[in-house]
Amino acid sequence: MVFGLDQLKENTDYFGLDIGTSSIKIAQLKKSFGKFELISFGSAPVESGVSQSDSAIDKKKISEEVKRLVHSMHLVTKNVVVSLPGSSVFTTVIKLPKMPMSELKKAISFQAEQNIPLKITDVRIDWQIIGESPNSGEVSVMIIAAPIIKTKKVADIVEDAGLDIQAVEINALAVSRSLQANEPLYAVVDIGTYTTEITVVQSNVMTLTRSIPVGGQVMTRAIAQDLNIEEAQAEQFKLKFGVDKERMEGKIFKAAKPILKNLTEEIERSIKYYSDQYNQNVTIIKLTGGGSKTIGIQSFIADQLGMNVVYGNPWAMVVHKPDITNQLNQNAPEFAVAVGLAMRGL
Ligand SMILES: Nc1ncnc2c1ncn2[C@@H]1O[C@H](COP(=O)(O)OP(=O)(O)OP(=O)(O)O)[C@@H](O)[C@H]1O
Ligand SMILES: [Mg+2]
Repeated sequence: MVFGLDQLKENTDYFGLDIGTSSIKIAQLKKSFGKFELISFGSAPVESGVSQSDSAIDKKKISEEVKRLVHSMHLVTKNVVVSLPGSSVFTTVIKLPKMPMSELKKAISFQAEQNIPLKITDVRIDWQIIGESPNSGEVSVMIIAAPIIKTKKVADIVEDAGLDIQAVEINALAVSRSLQANEPLYAVVDIGTYTTEITVVQSNVMTLTRSIPVGGQVMTRAIAQDLNIEEAQAEQFKLKFGVDKERMEGKIFKAAKPILKNLTEEIERSIKYYSDQYNQNVTIIKLTGGGSKTIGIQSFIADQLGMNVVYGNPWAMVVHKPDITNQLNQNAPEFAVAVGLAMRGL
């Protein structure tokens, strides 16, 4: 069960809905002969500033946009799986001695109260076992606490759009599902609008996730300020030239550099924390999120960190018609969350 909402039954009739700050993304899949198959996908922009607001008018705007998108995609089902960003939840990892599941559940619930700096009555708790140490006989458990106020906001939006919510989970969990791969250990860096989520995935299990205030819009603002231009113009420059040192006499790169530096330092810090805790080195970074499409950002991160930086492709395991491959690839970074949600329970 995730955040106290009804668990998905045997029901595979649902779609993944990612309500991002810049856009809403939807993906619907089915499982056929053991493989994921694409039914439908689509996205729609969200008016600037609306996602962060808690006003009834702004929530209504998002639910209307969701409704329009669902309608335009001709989706038949009303069942949805949604997610919350990492910035809305609190996560912590605890270690417990191995014990039967019924006792473990009780211990986790007790530990959650001790370890979460929020009033337990104000949050919904979810948890997952992220590792077992054969030597010490301990299990590591990630506890996720989502403020009820946040789960209620997303539930209100979804219900107002005439949809039935099946589960709420967190972005990092969805991404670690859609990017599941053979590599035993990697970090996902999801560069969104105002935030970037860094998630370490080990054996396809999310083991660490944190959120930092860096994103595409943060870069746009820095460019606007440094070049003394409007944000709309800065966004256009960013989309066209990226942060490539060779373009625009390096002016955009120079403007965005402090943000990029901050990003790489935070990635480095997360990876170091992980290796200190788990004694294993992360050597691969997978980029997702619209901000990762910024020209030059992949090579910047790779140069700064001396690591293998690749793009995570959530469509890699999804069977689809060949004529839409290009379209899917163009949108791959943004759809990592929606596809992961769509894969839940299949
Ligand atoms: N081709 C591109 N080049 C550079 N930046 C881009 C490109 N396409 C999208 N972006 C940037 O990506 C950001 C939006 O990414 P994304 O769709 O992943 O965010 P979101 O999921 O809506 O937001 P969040 O996850 O932060 O709530 C915007 O800041 C936008 O400027
Ligand atoms: Mg996002």
